[in-house]
Amino acid sequence: GKVAVLMGGRSAERDISLDSGSRVLAALQRQGVDAQAFDPAERPLSDLAAFDRAFIALHGRYGEDGTIQGALELMGVPYTGSGVMASAVGMDKWRTKLIWRAAGLPMPNFIMLDENCDFEAAERHLGLPIFVKPACEGSSIGITRVSRAGQLQAAYREAAKHDTLVIAEQAISGGEYTVAVLGDEALPVVRIVPATEFYDYEAKYLRNDTQYLCPCGLPEAREREMRAQALAAFRILGCRGWGRVDFLMDERGATYLLEINTSPGMTDHSLVPMAARAAGISYEQLVWRVLEQAAL
Ligand code: DAL
Ligand code: MG
Repeated sequence: GKVAVLMGGRSAERDISLDSGSRVLAALQRQGVDAQAFDPAERPLSDLAAFDRAFIALHGRYGEDGTIQGALELMGVPYTGSGVMASAVGMDKWRTKLIWRAAGLPMPNFIMLDENCDFEAAERHLGLPIFVKPACEGSSIGITRVSRAGQLQAAYREAAKHDTLVIAEQAISGGEYTVAVLGDEALPVVRIVPATEFYDYEAKYLRNDTQYLCPCGLPEAREREMRAQALAAFRILGCRGWGRVDFLMDERGATYLLEINTSPGMTDHSLVPMAARAAGISYEQLVWRVLEQAAL
């Protein structure tokens, strides 16, 4: 049947999505799939009814947050990745954390900020350094690392440009890790070593000095534990198909869940393709396996 590769869209991550989507499209076409690019920012959504399946390579708002998933549900077009509820919750870091906390999963301390909060008290409560983030963004857009006292409010205002909901969380600085989930399986852990202060937008897409380690260098038992945590985090949110769970590690080797990405990047800098390669799954096979699990 005909496959629409959804890419572009109207979020702040549009450019990343165009990059992810064009690679996914090419990989499907190389395997003989009758696939076509579909940019919801440029076409009426009703055109999707002409397709048998949708591969969602959109990131961020209107692509990863349950809205496009809802439209596809109503049109009866099976789509890749998580359904409406898990996509909506996964896009919202605040609600994701509340659910993970209720499930007893380990996370850095966090609070919600607003214009009227006591920023000094918040700084004291979390302890510097602190990460400030818009709750519903991706690719580190709008994130500030606050390392000096008195800077929390400015960081809040920056994040508030991107979302009405802003969270602050304790910085954990022993290392950044990520685990891709494909179907029922967690793929090998990737360690990210940014040359910058943290793994920000530049380190993700623009610089070539970010190091990615896979194998990640952890003892086997620790790696197994992290993969199990990723699966638990994925399942408790009701995610489906594929996704990527990001982690931090402290100096003592304890791991903390950071966030989930229900429509992860598929660019040539992206982490899921890297983890798949380490598991002996080529980019083509990865795309195929994600598409195969498309559902309603
Ligand atoms: N939000 C970006 C695309 C990622 O998680 O890979
Ligand atoms: Mg993200």
